[in-house]
Amino acid sequence: MVHGLELGLGCFLWLLICCKVAAQTDTQPRIINGSVARVEETRHLVSIRLRKHDNNFGSGHICGGALIAANKVLTAAHCLYNNGRKRYRRPSELIVVMGTLNRYEHPNGTIVSEVSSMAYMNTFSPDSMRDDVGVLFLRKGLIRPNPFSVAPIQLARQVTPAGRVCQVAGWGRTEQSTLSNILMTANVSTIREQTCRSIYKSGLLPGMMCAGRLQGGTDSCQGDSGGPLVHEGRVIGVVSWGYGCAEPGLPGVYVDVQYYQQWIDERSGVARSRTSPGLGLSFSLLLGLLTFTATIQYSCRYKR
Ligand SMILES: *[C@@H]1O[C@H](CO)[C@@H](O)[C@H](O)[C@H]1NC(C)=O
Ligand SMILES: *[C@@H]1O[C@H](CO)[C@@H](O)[C@H](O)[C@H]1NC(C)=O
Ligand SMILES: *[C@@H]1O[C@H](CO)[C@@H](O)[C@H](O)[C@H]1NC(C)=O
Repeated sequence: MVHGLELGLGCFLWLLICCKVAAQTDTQPRIINGSVARVEETRHLVSIRLRKHDNNFGSGHICGGALIAANKVLTAAHCLYNNGRKRYRRPSELIVVMGTLNRYEHPNGTIVSEVSSMAYMNTFSPDSMRDDVGVLFLRKGLIRPNPFSVAPIQLARQVTPAGRVCQVAGWGRTEQSTLSNILMTANVSTIREQTCRSIYKSGLLPGMMCAGRLQGGTDSCQGDSGGPLVHEGRVIGVVSWGYGCAEPGLPGVYVDVQYYQQWIDERSGVARSRTSPGLGLSFSLLLGLLTFTATIQYSCRYKR
């Protein structure tokens, strides 16, 4: 199996990479073998949507994310990238929704926010998934603390040892449907780097980590990308890619949050969020040049 994989990796890296973003035309995977999430454990979960596909509230979902400050969302860089057009999406193409477990519902306390700017590393590669970390800054964000339905989550500051039970959540594919209406969550375990490396070989780059179940059966999947992997109330990973979903011996691959914590901490949208879009954009661009990250200003569409 592992030998077959090795071959497969060379040829089908592209397949791996496409696995976890929701594509409306796609008929593959999700959170596999999960259970319905509870508000108390997922107040930080956001749904990232393509505005033009969200006329029917909820139908534009492409990725998950985690609120890590009042107006800052941690997600995967590939969620910001339009692979079909080979360029990044514009902030204005996205909306972020938080405070509802059912992505089609808009109960009291739901926040719908535009995106004022975004950041990713210019070393991100959609081919290798290197540096698949991204940050969105919300125009509205969490206006006042709303502990009942929306609250930020902290980043992990230390390496999480292998074998720890953590939770991954998302509206991605389930056993029954291409996307779930209800937020689902599943327990997975952190996996030793050595084990992960023996499975994914050179596909495992610095800043990546494995979590899942080696016997298969439980995993994140398409539409879960960008969502957080949580251990003891802190984000330790971001859903990035996998080879299929929930296959035995092929755990999910996550962005290792503590590896990128300094970069994530240093991204700041505070100064931008209250300026006009034009000013915000040029300020972002300046920041981007200064910090070797770029702020996205291209138009894009869906992957696959
Ligand atoms: C939302 O909450 C407010 C205040 O509690 C209430 O007046 C309003 O009817 C609620 N709206 C809905 C749609 O439940
Ligand atoms: C998931 O893990 C938590 C914490 O370890 C545990 O309390 C819970 O029972 C687990 N849920 C399932 C479905 O295994
Ligand atoms: C589904 O998850 C439960 C724990 O929540 C686990 O006991 C069971 O083996 C999993 N099912 C499959 C098919 O892997």
